[in-house]
Amino acid sequence: MAQHATVALKRTGAKMPLVGFGLWKVTKSTCAETVYNAIKSGYRLLDGAGDYGNEKEAGEGLRRAIADGIVKREDVWVTSKLWNTFHAREHVHAVAKKQLGLWGIDYFDLFLVHFPIALEYVDPSHRYPPEWWGDDGKVHLAKVPFQETWGAMEELVDQGLVKNIGVSNTQGSLLLDILRYARYEPAVNQVELHPYLTQESLVKLCKTLGIAITAYSSLGPQSYVELGADKGAKNLLEHDLIQSIATKHSKSNAQVLLRWAVQQGLAVIPKSNNHDRLVQNLDVDQFTLSEEELKSISALNVNLRLNDPADIDPRMGIFA
Ligand code: A2P
Repeated sequence: MAQHATVALKRTGAKMPLVGFGLWKVTKSTCAETVYNAIKSGYRLLDGAGDYGNEKEAGEGLRRAIADGIVKREDVWVTSKLWNTFHAREHVHAVAKKQLGLWGIDYFDLFLVHFPIALEYVDPSHRYPPEWWGDDGKVHLAKVPFQETWGAMEELVDQGLVKNIGVSNTQGSLLLDILRYARYEPAVNQVELHPYLTQESLVKLCKTLGIAITAYSSLGPQSYVELGADKGAKNLLEHDLIQSIATKHSKSNAQVLLRWAVQQGLAVIPKSNNHDRLVQNLDVDQFTLSEEELKSISALNVNLRLNDPADIDPRMGIFA
């Protein structure tokens, strides 16, 4: 099996694969099979989250791949995320244990705070995953300072439940604040990043601080078009510039978009429910984009944030 590129994380030096398989929107009924096939096809990173609602099935696929001797547990990097309703110190440990139980493994390689937004606790036995809205259809914030959540994340490391910790959807000012109190600094920041949202200042800051970046939604609005919330952006997979570069390299448009990120040292986590696309998305090590091509793709930036929590309408009762 070909060795794929990795990035070494701060503190532990652990090598995180630059191309992983993302589990957001991976269909629950076929998830175990998809994950098994992803591992069989060479993926060595699975990017899950409590919120995705398919951790049990992803774990089944992983454990089958281990049972069949395709990989050992330590060969596969498993990332998961703490959902917004569990930010209070007393909930972090319990929900991490629950998530490990769903996966059927005893540690996560990386555990991220999914959003720096604390929501009111929802008992997982009542509703799991809890998502954004309460039973009344409103968003209820919880008064949990981020420092408390980060301290509880650090305790997961001390307890051996997670090897590395990080954040997601986190902008520069909060990153700098975390550094003031962190015993273990964030190793990774997973953010929306694609040619329409290049996040140059955040990337620069993270590089300076030694925080690795994982880009999500690398294929641009595609996922959001599927969800009916495309914000009117032209599909990057059909963009003329991407198409012309892809033709030049005899690659697909998706491969060019993924390569653009990976070549800048950014990790990516494309998902596909389609086997051929899944295989294709892992194969981005075998070609190099020129500096000019990288720059021309970056010039597509229009600061279009497709997944913006600030879009939550305050009239939905956010401060209720
Ligand atoms: P599908 O699962 O049918 O392949 P994201 O990872 O940003 O959520 O984006 C994934 C979206 O892009 C999904 O709609 C997925 O659909 C689609 N997709 C994934 N890989 C490719 C590819 N190589 N070519 C075209 N579309 C892709």
